[in-house]
Amino acid sequence: MKAAAAFGLASTLFCGVSAASNSSNAAILSSGHVQDLGDFAEAYAKAKAFVSGLTNAQKVSIITGSDVDSTNGSSWTALANKDGFAGINYQYYVSGFPMGNALAMTWDKDYFEAEAKASGREFYLMGYNLINGPEAGPLGRTPWGGRQSEAFSPDPYLSGVALAKTIGGMNSAGVVAGGRHFLLNEQETNRSTGTSDSTSSVYSSNADDKTIHELYLWPFQDGVKAGMAAVMCAMSRVNNSQSCENSHIVSELLKEELGFPGMVFPDVNSQSTSYGSANAGLDYGSSSLWTSTILEAGISNGSFTQARLDDMAIRNVIGYYYVGLDNGKQPSEAGSTDYRDVRSNHSALIREVSAASLVLLKNNATNGGGLPLDRPKSISVFGAHAGPAMAGPNQAFSVQGSSGPTYQGHLASGSGSGQLSFSYLITPYQSLTTRAAADGSMIRWILNDTYTSSSSSGMGMGSPPTTGGTGGPSGSSNSSSSSTSSGSGASRGGGGGGGNALSNLGQGTAVTPSITNYAEDSEVCLVFLNSFSGEGADREELYNTDQDTLVQSVASECNNTVVVINTVGPRLVDAWIELENVTAVLYGGMLGQESGNAIADVLYGDVNPSGKLISTLAKNESDYPVKLCYTAQCDFDEGVYIDYRHFDRFNVTPRYPFGHGLSYTTFEYGDVTAKKTNETALSATYPSGPIAIGGKTDLFDTVLTITTTLTNTGSRSGAEVAQLYVSYPAAANQPVRQLRGFEKVPLDKGAKSTVTFEVRRKDISHWDTAAKEWALAKGTYTFSVGSSSRDLRGSVAVEI
Ligand SMILES: *[C@@H]1O[C@H](CO)[C@@H](O)[C@H](O)[C@H]1NC(C)=O
Ligand SMILES: *[C@@H]1O[C@H](CO)[C@@H](O)[C@H](O)[C@H]1NC(C)=O
Ligand SMILES: *[C@@H]1O[C@H](CO)[C@@H](O)[C@H](O)[C@H]1NC(C)=O
Ligand SMILES: *[C@@H]1O[C@H](CO)[C@@H](O)[C@H](O)[C@H]1NC(C)=O
Ligand SMILES: *[C@@H]1O[C@H](CO)[C@@H](O)[C@H](O)[C@H]1NC(C)=O
Ligand SMILES: *[C@@H]1O[C@H](CO)[C@@H](O)[C@H](O)[C@H]1NC(C)=O
Ligand SMILES: *[C@@H]1O[C@H](CO)[C@@H](O)[C@H](O)[C@H]1NC(C)=O
Ligand SMILES: *[C@@H]1O[C@H](CO)[C@@H](O)[C@H](O)[C@H]1NC(C)=O
Ligand SMILES: *[C@@H]1O[C@H](CO)[C@@H](O)[C@H](O)[C@H]1NC(C)=O
Ligand SMILES: *[C@@H]1O[C@H](CO)[C@@H](O)[C@H](O)[C@H]1NC(C)=O
Ligand SMILES: *[C@@H]1O[C@H](CO)[C@@H](O)[C@H](O)[C@H]1NC(C)=O
Ligand SMILES: *[C@@H]1O[C@H](CO)[C@@H](O)[C@H](O)[C@H]1NC(C)=O
Repeated sequence: MKAAAAFGLASTLFCGVSAASNSSNAAILSSGHVQDLGDFAEAYAKAKAFVSGLTNAQKVSIITGSDVDSTNGSSWTALANKDGFAGINYQYYVSGFPMGNALAMTWDKDYFEAEAKASGREFYLMGYNLINGPEAGPLGRTPWGGRQSEAFSPDPYLSGVALAKTIGGMNSAGVVAGGRHFLLNEQETNRSTGTSDSTSSVYSSNADDKTIHELYLWPFQDGVKAGMAAVMCAMSRVNNSQSCENSHIVSELLKEELGFPGMVFPDVNSQSTSYGSANAGLDYGSSSLWTSTILEAGISNGSFTQARLDDMAIRNVIGYYYVGLDNGKQPSEAGSTDYRDVRSNHSALIREVSAASLVLLKNNATNGGGLPLDRPKSISVFGAHAGPAMAGPNQAFSVQGSSGPTYQGHLASGSGSGQLSFSYLITPYQSLTTRAAADGSMIRWILNDTYTSSSSSGMGMGSPPTTGGTGGPSGSSNSSSSSTSSGSGASRGGGGGGGNALSNLGQGTAVTPSITNYAEDSEVCLVFLNSFSGEGADREELYNTDQDTLVQSVASECNNTVVVINTVGPRLVDAWIELENVTAVLYGGMLGQESGNAIADVLYGDVNPSGKLISTLAKNESDYPVKLCYTAQCDFDEGVYIDYRHFDRFNVTPRYPFGHGLSYTTFEYGDVTAKKTNETALSATYPSGPIAIGGKTDLFDTVLTITTTLTNTGSRSGAEVAQLYVSYPAAANQPVRQLRGFEKVPLDKGAKSTVTFEVRRKDISHWDTAAKEWALAKGTYTFSVGSSSRDLRGSVAVEI
């Protein structure tokens, strides 16, 4: 959310530290119980020293986003806060990287970090230093959630790895990455009333302790462990109090249990009280709710404390020291339209990551169909999503409105505060045209989902007198008995003499543009679909009838129909997936500025697809367990059973399972073996380490390693994401299986490699509600390795 608006203008910083230094580093933040500050120790010492030289009025300035001048020796310039993660929101001359959902589909830890670092670098060079992203909430409880393109995956393990790597990547660029939205902010509907004084219809997310720990808090724990120095709390409510004023989630869970050392800052309209918010653990907030007068009065009469004010100030500045902003080298903040080109060579990385994120759902290369394309003689391209939007690559900024359900143009970004700022956008139409020119192909297009030939003049091509189409999906044309179709029929009957599908070429190029005319004349038909949403409004549907009809119409005339989908959340394919003429389907998230190039790279086989699904693709909408919630109380009754955990529990067959994704080559898995690396640790039911950054230290210790081998048995090089799933003993009361490791392994053809998964104590623990602690259950754990959550290739049982 556009938090900057709530804070007023933040400007460039430079902060001189000249406070009396107090070297007794107590290493205990006043509202937490952090026993070991780890690599935050130095930043904490600097922050504490700086704050100890400030007056209360100056501390209040800092926690409300104002500067402190240097009159009394210490100065501070408010952090320059900015929306975005995969690019800077609302800014000229910046890159549009693959958004969270596309990045997650790479399942590539190196790319998670590399993209975040490159994107973070752009924020840094533009003068921003407190970033509203990356995002592990929404997790993806409901596939109708509007903001899924900003976030990673409904699987907490995958989301946790992604959050940790992206936090590390952004921080390493010298900016403070602010993970959001904390916590249980799973849908847009009723998230806010739009005014700060009325919260009556803002929904309350009500989840039990086990669900919170095992699902929604899980990725944030990995983020804290990785150095997350700021967290944005959500607009919505949790257990009937505003998220930002809920001391249970902010103070007890985040700060005490996870040892979070940084600043909690609010989404817009997320703070409504002075003492309530400060005492609950909010560290940064409104200058009208937090005046010196109000806070001093609270200190005097016991509604508030000096220790908490000091803690708030320390937490506000600790991230600044942690990422090294005190070196004074950051450029000043740019205006949003200034020509300051920070993009460097990021377009190459963007194209690479985007291509690596694409998931090959289906491929049937029989009879020369399917993918990859090999210099096809004739190509037809269908759908608005293939080409440029009529009015350019960017959308108007909206954080509270509807976008979608589809987009009339190539869609490469969600909408709202995570929305990318495109200086350019490569469409599939552009990229495919360039390829066709180089290959000597014939390429045609209809960049409209519902085009009918009766409106052909709208395409700028007059209707030739003797040719006609069979009409588009609605069949409105009445010229189907014309020479085009009968010629086609003759050709298919064997009379055309050409021996291929190019029957209409006898008519030259002057056929009436129609979906079926083009489809029947093409060696390959590429149909482009999208599904659009963003901040402020949830999705209305998980499939689109117009676009599904387009696929069906094309496939009825084209025996080599390839579908390309870009979507913000799960997009169902059952209306046409079983059609034999649909030979291949490529599926991806919001790819950013190089979208068309990346899609063409995979279609043509320059890049062998290696992406995997980050959520389950159901056969029907009704197969998903959680719809949108329209009532004031949103009870998370499904517990941890979202996405594949639900499908596995109730034996619902998905169309494509979580983790699915094909390649142009094949991989063979070897035997799976296990090795206990720490018997002592495994013999204890509960962790016993001190609370450090991220929580009890031994939760993160490797207790087991699982090993297998992977061989590329196909004819070209490629990469496979080997996935580790764990089934717990019954006593742990866990889903059938859960992702607890993944490694993306690049392999030349014929090459073989050993794959090792390091299993942390946390990864085989369950939340013990009575003990309020992570526990190990005694019994048999089964570790399975496979190519998806339902394509397991080997397993090993371990007694614990
Ligand atoms: C240093 O900090 C400690 C703990 O906060 C406090 O007890 C002590 O008085 C401080 N010393 C100075 C010189 O400020
Ligand atoms: C500087 O310190 C003095 C004495 O503590 C205080 O009265 C004054 O308000 C401070 N000035 C600023 C700008 O904070
Ligand atoms: C919800 O709030 C009630 C009352 O404040 C409290 O007793 C309960 O423990 C809370 N539940 C959770 C999961 O935080
Ligand atoms: C302390 O003072 C504030 C400001 O006047 C007031 O709102 C609050 O209720 C008081 N608290 C107590 C415990 O008296
Ligand atoms: C971009 O340039 C940097 C050096 O400036 C180099 O290290 C990196 O490999 C380049 N990346 C790509 C994808 O070309
Ligand atoms: C692949 O396509 C051929 C026809 O070209 C068909 O006979 C075969 O059943 C298809 N295979 C699969 C797995 O769908
Ligand atoms: C499509 O039909 C043509 C003409 O019959 C044939 O040559 C071609 O192999 C078919 N393609 C596929 C993928 O079945
Ligand atoms: C798409 O085609 C339909 C039907 O021919 C027409 O009504 C609509 O205006 C077209 N859309 C665009 C964006 O051209
Ligand atoms: C189609 O055209 C033929 C010949 O012009 C005419 O007889 C027929 O009624 C038309 N059909 C429709 C559905 O308009
Ligand atoms: C598949 O495409 C061919 C044209 O290549 C067409 O003749 C056939 O009817 C299509 N099959 C189906 C089931 O639509
Ligand atoms: C939630 O939003 C829906 C749709 O806007 C509305 O009908 C409903 O009244 C809202 N619920 C609450 C509790 O405000
Ligand atoms: C094994 O685990 C115990 C308990 O968590 C820990 O104290 C010890 O350091 C670990 N040993 C190794 C070699 O990691």
